[in-house]
Formats: sequence, C-alpha cells, structure tokens
Amino acid sequence: MCGIIGAVTESAIEPVLEGLGRLEYRGYDSSGISILSNNKIQTIKAQGKLNNLKERLSMQSLEGKCCIGHTRWATHGRANVTNAHPHQCGQVSVVHNGIIENYLQLKQQLMQWGHHFDSSTDSEVVPHLINHYLAQQMSPEEAIEKTITQLKGSYALGILINGTSNNLYAIKQGSPLVISQGNNGAYMASDAMGLGADSSKIYYPKDNQLITLNNHEIKLCSRSLNTKIHYVNNKHCSKVISKGEHSSFMEKEIFEQVDLLKKLSVNNYYDKYSAINFKDLNKITIIACGTSYYAASVAKTWFEKYANILVEIDIASEYRYRSPIIIDNELTIFVSQSGETADTLAALRYAKSKSAQTLALVNVANSTIAREAKFTFEIYAGPEIGVASTKAFTCQLAIFYKIAMEAAKQRSFIEPSELKELALNFMQLPYIIEKILQNRTDMKMMAKKLSNYSNILFLGRGALTAIAQEGALKLKEISYIHAEAYAAGELKHGPIALLDEKMPVVVIAPKNNLTDKLLSNIQEVQARNAPLFIIGDSSIREYVNLQEDEFFELPLIPESILPIISVIPMQLLALYSAKILGKNIDQPRNLAKSVTVE
Ligand code: G6P
Repeated sequence: MCGIIGAVTESAIEPVLEGLGRLEYRGYDSSGISILSNNKIQTIKAQGKLNNLKERLSMQSLEGKCCIGHTRWATHGRANVTNAHPHQCGQVSVVHNGIIENYLQLKQQLMQWGHHFDSSTDSEVVPHLINHYLAQQMSPEEAIEKTITQLKGSYALGILINGTSNNLYAIKQGSPLVISQGNNGAYMASDAMGLGADSSKIYYPKDNQLITLNNHEIKLCSRSLNTKIHYVNNKHCSKVISKGEHSSFMEKEIFEQVDLLKKLSVNNYYDKYSAINFKDLNKITIIACGTSYYAASVAKTWFEKYANILVEIDIASEYRYRSPIIIDNELTIFVSQSGETADTLAALRYAKSKSAQTLALVNVANSTIAREAKFTFEIYAGPEIGVASTKAFTCQLAIFYKIAMEAAKQRSFIEPSELKELALNFMQLPYIIEKILQNRTDMKMMAKKLSNYSNILFLGRGALTAIAQEGALKLKEISYIHAEAYAAGELKHGPIALLDEKMPVVVIAPKNNLTDKLLSNIQEVQARNAPLFIIGDSSIREYVNLQEDEFFELPLIPESILPIISVIPMQLLALYSAKILGKNIDQPRNLAKSVTVE
C-alpha cells in the first residue's frame, strides 16, 4: 500500500508535498520526506494526516533539489513516527510501497552483520542492504541492483543516496510506479495522479528496471540499454480537484452522479462494446473487491436476465486460490475503480496465465489493470477522492448495464422492444437520481434516528441484495456503525435471532416482482419489535405504519434500473450518519482508497 513520490527539481520539496496530498488516498496513517540538502539527507516524519507533516516542515526551512516522500497505510508495524517512511541507514534513504515478504530473514542477517533497526517495518531492510553493499565499494547502481536480488515480494522504491550529485533512483517489482520527465525536472510516483503540472509525459517502468532521475534526464541502468523509454500522455496531469460548495469529496461525488449519468446516457458506446463476441460466450466470470464486487453482483443479474449468459462472480482475493475452472469461450471481467488493487491484478494475471479472455472495467485509464487486460472499458466517473466509493459504483453499474444490453442484442435473447425499453429506462436515470437528491432532507432525518444505534441490519432481495450489502459497507466504512446485509429471505435462517428493539432493520423495498415476498419479511421484522426503516415507493407505504423519519420515499422506478437508483439513498444514509457522528468522511480510519498489497 502507501503512496511514494520523488522529485529532482529546483525546489524539490514543493512537488513532493503537493504529490503526497494527491496520493493520500493510498493511505494516511503517517507521512514523511527525505531531502538532499547541503550534502546531507534530512528526514522529517509525522504520525497521522499529511497536515501534521506540513506543520512540522513549516517550523524549519529546508531546501534541496532531490526529495522523496511517502504517505503510509500501515501493514508491518503500528502507525507511528518510527515506522513512518522514509527509512534511512547512513547515507541511504528509502520510500517503499509493497511488502518485502522475506524481511525477517534479511533483518536477521543484517543484524548479524552489525546493523541496528529502529522500526518494525519490512521496508527498513532495503536501506540497510543498500548501505551494506555500498560499504563493499559497490557503486550506487550496483548496490541497488544487488539489493533487489535479495528481496522477495512486491516493491516500488524511491531511493536517495548522499554523494550522487542529486540522483534519485527508482525501481519496482509488482507494485505500481510511474516516472515523468518534465520541463523543470524529473519525477516519480506510485501513480499518475501523484504527478503535477510538469508531468504531461509519463513512463511506466518494467519490473526491475533501475531508473536514475536527475535534473536533466532520466536514464535506464546499463542492463536495460536495449529498452527504450516510451512516454505516454498523462491524462491526470495537473487537474486541480476541489470540493466546491460541498463539505466533503464524498458529498460532491454523490451529487456529481446526476451529470455523469447524463453524459453516459447520451454517449453511445455500443461500437466499443461490440468488440466482445458475446454470442459465442459460454460463461462470464466477474472478479473484483469491495464496492466493485457489489457492482459485479448486480451485473450478474443483468447478464443472466437479459442475455441468458452463465455468470459467476468472485472476490479477487479468493479467485486464484480456489482452482477456478476456466472453460472454453469464457470471458473474465475485472472491475476496479483504481485499476491498481493488488488482489484484482493478481487475479487478472492468473486468468491470463490460464489463457482466459480478459476485460477490465476501470475508472483510471492507464492503470496497471487497464494496461494488462486484453480489452479495457473505462467507466468515466472522473477522479474519485472520497475513500468510500460512490460515483464510481454507479458508473460501473451504468457501463455494465450497457454491456449487458450489447450482450442481449448479440444473443437475441430478448425482444427488440424490450431492448429498446431497457435503453429508455437508462435515459431516465439522471432525472430520477436528481429527484432523490432533492429529497435528501428526508434521509438526514432517517440518518439522525439510525445513527443512535450501534448495529444495523440491511435487507434486500434479488439484485437489491447487493445494494443492501453496498449500503452496509458504506455505513461501516465512514460512520463505524456495525452493519450487515442479507438477502431478505435469509433472515429467518439465522439473523432473525439478533432482532430486538436495539437492532434496527433497513429494508430496500421498491415495487418489483418480489414485493409480496419482501412484505412477509418486513412482517417478520415488525413481529420481533425491531425498529423498521424502509426505502421504498408509495405502493409499499400503505402496508407499513411508519413515521416520517422511518420511510424514505422513492419515485416509481422501472425494475431494470432499480439497483442504480436504490444505491443513492444508501450513500446519503452513510454520509449523513457519519456527519452526525462527526467522523472524517473522506479519510475514514484504517482504510485506503487503493489497496496495492495482497
Ligand atoms: C478499497 C477501497 C474500496 C474499494 C476497494 C476496491 O478497499 O476502500 O472503496 O471498493 O478497495 O477498489 P477498486 O479500486 O479495485 O475498485
């Protein structure tokens, strides 16, 4: 995990601090920088958010042309200053993203050689090893290359070595890394989002390609002389993202969904999606983590219902460890907002190794998953900053809906009139979502009541089970209220034992073909005195006797688009509950937006 950044430029500390701000979504347990200043490496670190580091830096005047920085999501060792990066040993300072799996053996060996360790991290072995080889009169390049032959696991490293005329070294294995040559200097970062205005051209290094950055040029080490640096345009370059009138990025991103869906409903991407031959497919497997996995769950219901394709879904961290059966003419789809999630990437590589056809659905163009899959479709949500995913989820669903329509068309499973109706339903999305957002005060009232509880149960049926799960996940992530979700029919098979006046139940109950079944489940909840909350349309209201703040009314919605619509109140509920409880909306504790370790 973590974000790493480096700059070799006139005043290197500025782009590094700016970049750390843009990379904070990768972790924010602690941060730190090392700068080569007056022939000395100075390292400043702080626990907690980046602002704490900025405050420490404001108390001293540091200048230098070569700087590395790090924002951490703790894996090995607590989130404190000692474990914060950069880690320094003598004249070597290192920032690391990834996991050094054999660090204990390396540490033992280094301790036998007389090295002393300060932190409990896996990363600290790297500067010690480099230092060890430098002491054997190796050149910096040789010392780094020798070091990486000792490392097992994944890493992207930024390395400062005093006495190398402002050289910055970068190397990766498995973890993401991007390099850029600008007009005013050279830069490296975990991903393109971390780079600033001077980085319109970027290069994605290959594994174990040692790169030297200095003020004038970017060089590959001698071993890689046959490889050319191939620059591509940086789509994320210098975009300044602000919250605008909103109190958090998450709130802004929830409200952005209206315009995003307007754009997606006028753009016709069928041509693009027709690149996939759905007609001859025997099976689709969709693989993802977190919120993206719930998008996969909804997509399964559309592919099955409208295109009659067998669909399996799997959690990325499980997929490659369960000996999945990949059959002829199977399409494996990898869904990832960031395109960098380590588990999803590993699953993609596994599927490729088994010769499966691969399609990536990503928000970040040029991300590793986007670059490695055979086909890539973007979801066009724009940069998502809030750690809790909102607009990326609805855009994932919107694109899946369109792909499912293309599949339905190719396989002629539904009548042309029904296909047309699906397209018309899609067009209604932004207007219905707009209406729901206008009624947000009603959701604030519901959140006020619900935020008094410590545990909440969410229920849905059919595709809306995944929406109940996504609602529970959102609430957990940002309000820290314990929430679980079930397919409503499962209530009686266990969770019903939890019901009493202290266990509220939120039911997503818009009118559809399962309404009657759901009404029975609602009766079961009420019979156990559990406080009931419903998100449903007026047709349900007459069956339940609820107060104003216990019922959030949805307009009447065509069934095919119900999942996309129903998630909006879920997002609002989480947002307002977290606000009421005074939690940090955009940077909830222990989480990171992009999880780049297994
Ligand atoms: C992290 C984030 C989640 C996200 C998941 C998958 O856990 O906190 O919000 O859903 O990763 O991320 P991806 O970028 O692959 O969609």
